[in-house]
Amino acid sequence: MTTTDARDTAHGIDTAHGLATELDGDLLRHHILDFRQMTQFAEAPWIFDRADGVRLRDTDGNWYIDGLSGVFVASLGYGNTKVIEAIEHQLRTLHFAPPLHGTSVPALDLAARLRRLAPAAMQGAHGPGIKILSGGSEATEAALKLARQYWKQVGHPRKYKVVARYGGYHGATMGSLSATGGWERKSVFEPLVPGFIHHHQPHAFKDVFAHLPVAEASEAASRLAADLVGRMVENEDPETVAAIIVEPMSISAAGFVVPHDAYYRRLREICDKHHVLLIYDEIITGFGRLGEWFGANFYGVAPDLLCVGKGMGGGYVPISAVIVAGQVWEAFLGDPAERREFHHGHTFAGNPVASAAGCAAIDEMESRDLPGNAKAQGAYVRSRLQALQREFPDVIADVRGGGLLQGFEFDPVRYPKVTKPAKKFEALARKHGFIARCGDEYVAFAPPLVIERADLDELLVRATDVLHEMVG
Ligand SMILES: Cc1ncc(COP(=O)(O)O)c(C=O)c1O
Repeated sequence: MTTTDARDTAHGIDTAHGLATELDGDLLRHHILDFRQMTQFAEAPWIFDRADGVRLRDTDGNWYIDGLSGVFVASLGYGNTKVIEAIEHQLRTLHFAPPLHGTSVPALDLAARLRRLAPAAMQGAHGPGIKILSGGSEATEAALKLARQYWKQVGHPRKYKVVARYGGYHGATMGSLSATGGWERKSVFEPLVPGFIHHHQPHAFKDVFAHLPVAEASEAASRLAADLVGRMVENEDPETVAAIIVEPMSISAAGFVVPHDAYYRRLREICDKHHVLLIYDEIITGFGRLGEWFGANFYGVAPDLLCVGKGMGGGYVPISAVIVAGQVWEAFLGDPAERREFHHGHTFAGNPVASAAGCAAIDEMESRDLPGNAKAQGAYVRSRLQALQREFPDVIADVRGGGLLQGFEFDPVRYPKVTKPAKKFEALARKHGFIARCGDEYVAFAPPLVIERADLDELLVRATDVLHEMVG
């Protein structure tokens, strides 16, 4: 039986391995997806079997425009031959290097690229340190540990607290989850790691400035939120605070937060004044998503530790990294007897195949100027969403974003958040053949950075159709 002539009629699924038979049994409830009730999933499963360019196909044969790059991952689209060939070549050459004994050529190549691309303010005298890892949670977890270890070895052993934000998402491991701000994903695992304290995101103060025009309200809310972080650090005793962790733009179930530039300038001042490390979680915003290489470039404010993942390898392999500012990394170098090395590791960290894919992906981003494409196409998406806002003034309250991460928020009066209008949009999007990121009250688009105008137009026409259907 071949894969093409063996499609189950109900699901269009390849039956060569007995999959369709299993689907009628318990497999769908026992294949555990992320953050998902499997009984509900099993009632309307969504199973993908193919992809090409910026489109995905499901096992019923329907094609969808991927307006979310998988989940901020498939930045190069699907089927990129340069990355695939690099992976194939590396698999045949050296698929694994003994991590307790050495490294590999692709891992060094990748570190060199990351050192070159890192923001200027992170370069220090000898360039940044690079820790290559496999996933976003591994990167944020490592950054938190780097911060705590750093202060111990530069004479501030009492610095251990990490200031994070409600509504932020930093990963699923216990440390990264402790930094995460939404109770929905963490309270069932409490008690978590001690020493994490949370403050409010700028958009929490939006209502305080509701009397101002949206842009001014956003700036005022950002300034207030950042000032409160400063007071928090002072009240906690700065000598106990090791780091502040933020996503430059935060997009999670808790909301789509686009702070004003003033926010990051102020956070940087607070960190410099109180000797606190600034950690950017750029798992989503890194590698061109905001129309610049990093959110640090977008906001013009550099962190001390910068975490990247997701789009870094285009989704062809699991790969992530922490870029450690040169001036910070110096504290980890010395005589072995001093035990200054970073006391942390993972078996697959710096895997040669993953690193080769990462190098090829970055080369593609550079040679095709994908950050530049994200900036140009993102400006187009923004203008189209603003036009939609004019067409649906009492449906869309705000349009915001950066680069190819653009979205809108439903009007809170006509569509209160508790009624989850964006979830209705999400369900209709599937029917209309596209994928988007939908919270309860916002819808965002983050298509592959390679997307061209014609595909964007199609995506936006479909999104408009969904709005028409919702409004009725
Ligand atoms: C901002 C941010 N940080 C960290 C993570 C965790 O990354 P991963 O799921 O690859 O562990 C995510 C994942 O969605 C994320 O969006």
